[in-house]
Amino acid sequence: MDWGMKNRMSRIINPKTGHTVMLAVDHGYFQGPTTGLRKPGETIAPLVSYADAVMITRGVLRTSVDTGISKPIVLRVSGGTSVLKEDLSNEGITTSMKEAIRLNASAVALSIFVGAPNERQTLLSLSELVNQGEEYGIPVLAVTAVGREMVRDTRYLGLATRIAAELGAHMVKTYYCEDFEKVVEGCPVPIVIAGGKKIPEPDALKLAYNAVQAGAMGVDMGRNIFQSETPAAMIQAVRSIVQENYTPDEALELLKSLKSQEK
Ligand code: R5P
Repeated sequence: MDWGMKNRMSRIINPKTGHTVMLAVDHGYFQGPTTGLRKPGETIAPLVSYADAVMITRGVLRTSVDTGISKPIVLRVSGGTSVLKEDLSNEGITTSMKEAIRLNASAVALSIFVGAPNERQTLLSLSELVNQGEEYGIPVLAVTAVGREMVRDTRYLGLATRIAAELGAHMVKTYYCEDFEKVVEGCPVPIVIAGGKKIPEPDALKLAYNAVQAGAMGVDMGRNIFQSETPAAMIQAVRSIVQENYTPDEALELLKSLKSQEK
């Protein structure tokens, strides 16, 4: 890894803790105006200061995020399908590396769909993106998207994360599952977990805790933060677990006390 790539990685993953809290707000790229993100600028602005990085598309970045932002951008550069389609795997690269650099992205992100009809296409897109990233010193985050029919277990997630790493991804985002240490063990690059659908806050905090305990470098969390009644309190509670070693109970206490201020 050259200096530029290492420097970008260290902007995303705090070198002191080895952990990161990425705020995922890229959902609109196939879901449209997702609950909690209908006006992305209003959602994102109060949360940015508590995130280590923001995962976002170029369209929302350009239109809805202040250019003075100091947090690194993980630019979602894959797309091409929508929730209206049965098969979501028909994705390609949507944003050039030149554009990512012009937008001052610290990393680019693309989904792979292992086991889905367009598996090959998405894996070759990842490889192509890694080739471009290596050329310009831009790390690539591979997102292991899970099709409706895929089981989220160590076997499947272990397969998808390992393939992403083998093809050269510098970081991988996946889902938490039981025995998650096995997924981490089999993947030689740092892993972050997605939060998935909104669940009760204590459960989301436990999810973040369990993932970090199992060796994840942190979270790339969206809906469990921005669909919370008190998103700023929730991201701070998640942050306390990922960056400050809080237990889920301690984080819940923090959440309660912050909630009363935010409401
Ligand atoms: C998928 O739409 C995106 O990659 C999201 O960034 C990812 O699913 C993480 O967001 P959430 O925590 O809402 O699952």
